[in-house]
Amino acid sequence: MRVYDLIFKKREAQALTKEELDFLISGYANNNIPDYQISAFLMAVYFQGMSKEEIAYLTLAMANSGDKIDLSCIPGIKVDKHSTGGVGDTTTLILAPLVSSAGIPLAKISGRGLGHTGGTIDKLEAIPDFKVNLTHDEFINQVKKINLGICAQSSNLVPADKKLYALRDVTATIESIPLISSSIMSKKIASGADAILLDVKVGSGAFMKTLKEARNLALTMVKIGKLVNKKTSALITNMEEPLGSMIGNALEVKEAILILNGKIKDSPLKEVSLTLGAHLLKLGGKARNFKEGWIKINQLLNEGKGIEKLKELIKFQGGNPKAVEDLNLLPQASIFKKVFSPYSGYISKIDAQKAGYAAMLLGAGREKKEDKIDLGVGIILNKKVGDKVNKGEVLAEILGNLKEKVKISEEVLLSAFYFSKKAPQVSKLILDFIERQ
Ligand code: URA
Ligand code: CA
Repeated sequence: MRVYDLIFKKREAQALTKEELDFLISGYANNNIPDYQISAFLMAVYFQGMSKEEIAYLTLAMANSGDKIDLSCIPGIKVDKHSTGGVGDTTTLILAPLVSSAGIPLAKISGRGLGHTGGTIDKLEAIPDFKVNLTHDEFINQVKKINLGICAQSSNLVPADKKLYALRDVTATIESIPLISSSIMSKKIASGADAILLDVKVGSGAFMKTLKEARNLALTMVKIGKLVNKKTSALITNMEEPLGSMIGNALEVKEAILILNGKIKDSPLKEVSLTLGAHLLKLGGKARNFKEGWIKINQLLNEGKGIEKLKELIKFQGGNPKAVEDLNLLPQASIFKKVFSPYSGYISKIDAQKAGYAAMLLGAGREKKEDKIDLGVGIILNKKVGDKVNKGEVLAEILGNLKEKVKISEEVLLSAFYFSKKAPQVSKLILDFIERQ
C-alpha cells in the first residue's frame, strides 16, 4: 500500500477500506508516515467527507492505536458522558455524583481544556490535593468500590488522536464531522463504557454554530455507537450564552456544589445537568423512560445524595472533602472588580465565546498547551439574557490576580453583552434529542 494512492483516492471522493484506514492510522501513530502526507489526507477528508462505514473504520483504527480500558469486571451497565465543550459547562461535576448515587457505575476519563476555559480535569484540580492521575487499575478499582471515578487521560489512551488533533489544529481541519466524530468516539470506545451519552453544543461558544451541523454530528456519533455495539444517545443543547453563571475553575466547582447542595434552585446549568442525568439513568437501566429518570434524579438531588457522592469521590481521589462545606478552601483571587452596565434596557445576548475569552485572559484557560492555569480567577455573571438592567447596575464581577489582566478582561467581557430596548426572545436550552437506534 502506498500513502500517495490513499490520499489520491480520498481526493477523488472514493471510499477507503478498513485495511487502508488501519494502514494510515497505525502508520501515523507509529511515526512511519510523515505529517505532510497526513495533512493532505486530512484536508481531502475535510472536503470530500466520509461514508458511515469509513467513519466507523477510522474510529476503530484510532481506538485501537493504544491502551483500552477494560471495565468488564465491574458489574452493571457502565455509563459515560461527553460534552463537545462550551463555556461555563460544568455539567459533569453535577450529574456524575447524582447518576452514580443511583447505583450506576460512571467511569469518566476527562481532558484538559484548550482555549476558552479549563476542562473537567482542570476544574477538579481546584479542589485541594485532588489527584487526577490514576493508573488504570486504581481507576477501575475505585469505580468498582464507589461507582464513580474521574481521571485524566493517560498518554497511551488513543495516541493517534493526540497526534491527529495537534496536526488538525494547525492545518485548519478541526471543523470536519468525520474527524470530530471519530476523535470523540475513539476516546469513548477506548474508555470502556457500555453506554454513552453525548452532549452536542450548538451556538457561538461551540464548535457547531448551527442546529443543522450539530444534528449531523450527533447523528454521526450515534451511528458509530450502533456499529460498535455501544448504546449511544445524544442531546443537543444551547451554547449561545455561557451555561453557568460562573466561568473559571474554582468558580465552576463552587457553582456545581451550590447546585448539589440546593443553594442554587433554578438555573440553565442545573436544567441541562439534570436532563443529561435523567437520560443517563435510562441508559444505565435505572429508569424506564426519561420522565421516570427526571423524577428520580430530582429526588436524589433533594435528598442530598449528589453532594455526599461528590465528597466520597474527593476523599477517594486524595482531595480534601471539607472544601465542599467550606468554599473558602478553594483557590481564591486577590482582585475583585464589578462591571457596570453602560446602558438601560434588556440584555439581548451574552456572547459565550467572548465571555470565555475574557475568562481566559484572566488566566482561567490556556492560550497555548504549555500555559499554566490560574485556578482561582474567573467571572461571575449577575445577569442573564432577557433580564432588564439599568445603567450603572452590576452586570458581572471579575475575579483576578493581576491588575493589567483584569483591565483587558473587563473590556472583552463588556463587549460580550448586547442590549435591546424591547424584551428579547429567550432561546430554548434543550434543542433536540437523538435516541440510540
Ligand atoms: N473534541 C474532541 O475530542 N475532538 C475533536 O475533534 C473535537 C472536539
Ligand atoms: Ca469540557
